[in-house]
Amino acid sequence: MTFDIPKDPTFLGDDVIAEINIDPGFGEYFTDHMALADYDETGWHNDRLVPYGAIPMDPAGAVFHYAQEIFEGLKAYRHADGSVWLFRPHSNAVRFMNSARRMALPELPEEDFMTSVVNLAKLDARWVPGGDEQSLYLRPFMMANESFLGVRAAKTVMYCCIASPVGAYFNSGVQPVDIWVVQEMSRVAQDGTGSAKCGGNYAASLLAGEVGYQKGCSQVLFTDATNHTYVEELGGMNFFMVTAKNELVTPDLNGNVLAGVTRDSLLALAPSLGLTPVERPIKLSEVYEGLDSGDVKEVFACGTAAVVGPIGALKDENGTHLASEHAKTLELRQALCDIQWGRAADPFNWMMRVA
Ligand code: COI
Repeated sequence: MTFDIPKDPTFLGDDVIAEINIDPGFGEYFTDHMALADYDETGWHNDRLVPYGAIPMDPAGAVFHYAQEIFEGLKAYRHADGSVWLFRPHSNAVRFMNSARRMALPELPEEDFMTSVVNLAKLDARWVPGGDEQSLYLRPFMMANESFLGVRAAKTVMYCCIASPVGAYFNSGVQPVDIWVVQEMSRVAQDGTGSAKCGGNYAASLLAGEVGYQKGCSQVLFTDATNHTYVEELGGMNFFMVTAKNELVTPDLNGNVLAGVTRDSLLALAPSLGLTPVERPIKLSEVYEGLDSGDVKEVFACGTAAVVGPIGALKDENGTHLASEHAKTLELRQALCDIQWGRAADPFNWMMRVA
């Protein structure tokens, strides 16, 4: 598929886009175009870049009933010279294929994913904001759109990619946030869909998230569904801790945890900041005791949307465990952001120029 750039595209006025990009928030505004493609028994076809707008769907469309859906999130960054770059888009393409397999959806070939996101970013490059912490968030997604209520994998599917100029994900910016630890609800089950980026995992996290908000916390941290002993993932982000032995520790990819691109990038950057990357099961008790004793110095959350968010405290019904330090967290954040915004060398060849 070629996702050809249309001949005479139209755009909102530059002044309107500039006004939106002063403070775009997160996922509130959308660019002028979107990518679309269809899948049926003949395979993927009808690829196109069209004006952004509503997608007609039959109310019997399978996604509305059985949530057969996956998505991705990646960003385009404007560098100081005006050029526009994507961060590790191939990783998202591969994860999108992995998610598709788990959700019995057709894989979108890596080259088609790449063409769609690259051409959409090129076409709507004027929307990539240039301010501090700002970027263009690309949201590829795929959903079952067959009009059929029987429970089986749909035979027709739609792929779409939209784009949204964004600033910081948390209102507090990079100020530490408090996290509510959930032990009575689960986000994913053992051998479930935890390693797929599918809407259902996020839907399952929302009620716990509401409880967390009521407790004054911005996010929740889920423990394993079987025994609630091990730390797994936040509502939509991966969990990390920095130990007194200068280890950067995160839960291993045990099938319940999403293989975050930011997660992987921080593990790769760790040695250059004097940290040993470690992926292993982490007991919640180890985190609590470590924070209280000082064996765990820092805890943070990471993801494409929020980049790296320092955690000020982990809380549950029994009490609060404070993380007093955030120095390594902020160093990791800076090192990653410097690569993404082109302020530092890119030793891993993560950045891909699109405009
Ligand atoms: C990300 O950090 O990229 C996420 O997955 C959160 C997103 C669903 C808003």
